[in-house]
Amino acid sequence: MSQAIQKLKKERNAVILAHLYQRPEIQDIADFVGDSLQLSQQAAQTEADVIVFCGVHFMAESAAILSPQKIVLLPEEDAGCPMADMVTATDLQRRKAEMGDVQVVAYVNTSAAVKAESDICCTSSNAVKVVSSLPQDKKILFIPDRNLGDWISRKTGREMVMWDGYCNTHDRLTVEDVERAKSKYPEALFLAHPECRPEVVELADFVASTTGLIKYAVQSKASSFIIGTEEGILHQLRKEAPDKNFYLASPQLICPNMKLTSLEKVLWSLEELEPRITVEPKVREKALSSLEQMLALA
Ligand code: 13P
Ligand code: SF4
Repeated sequence: MSQAIQKLKKERNAVILAHLYQRPEIQDIADFVGDSLQLSQQAAQTEADVIVFCGVHFMAESAAILSPQKIVLLPEEDAGCPMADMVTATDLQRRKAEMGDVQVVAYVNTSAAVKAESDICCTSSNAVKVVSSLPQDKKILFIPDRNLGDWISRKTGREMVMWDGYCNTHDRLTVEDVERAKSKYPEALFLAHPECRPEVVELADFVASTTGLIKYAVQSKASSFIIGTEEGILHQLRKEAPDKNFYLASPQLICPNMKLTSLEKVLWSLEELEPRITVEPKVREKALSSLEQMLALA
């Protein structure tokens, strides 16, 4: 199956991008595996004609916004992000009207229509930089992740109005889960993604995006780590640091949407050049501005 994918990939002049939460076999056939920011950068820079996005819908949509001349494929059309669905463009317009003069910072985990209603995007790896770059005299509305927003607010000292969204995979991790793991592996450091609840993030030895967590674990002198993010990251952690020990903080840290992509679907998608993700030109133009503001800072 992998060979057939590689052969067809060449014929189509395609590039396969995969998020770190994808299944191991998908990460292994990808040309590039990374966090949300790195994947957007790859999508913006690639010279391929076709981008096969192994991730969730908002990620493929960002690729289509950044590279409208390319064919963007999402092998599993139903792979969405429940957190991205927690804010709609209409609800955001209403909130902006209520708040008056406000700058909207949108986590990339949002639809193109929501990005189009926002001023600047961010990912978990550049959120602190993005928020710190904003003028002090205007209120900030941060959408949609209240947990990530809380972490940024504490890191930057900037007060922000939070949307009440969350990732239901990360938000499931509790203080009790972490304490249980810590008493089982007392020598291990606890690494957390900022999509976890504030009280869980509080317990972490290090907090960062998926790529940030991998870099830290590889470079650290410590040899054991409790991982507070989606289980797909364990594959790259074990590849990059085979002599170290990694324990998932809870067996529930699985994003079902990220697991929908299979090798069969990638192959089918390359054969048919479907399902394609496109963004309506008017929405695209405005959403592009929010993404470009972010990329310019990266
Ligand atoms: P990062 O890879 O940017 O840390 O994103 C995490 C995530 O939940 C993506 O859906
Ligand atoms: Fe969305 Fe959370 Fe899944 Fe990421 S891990 S795609 S934020 S539900």
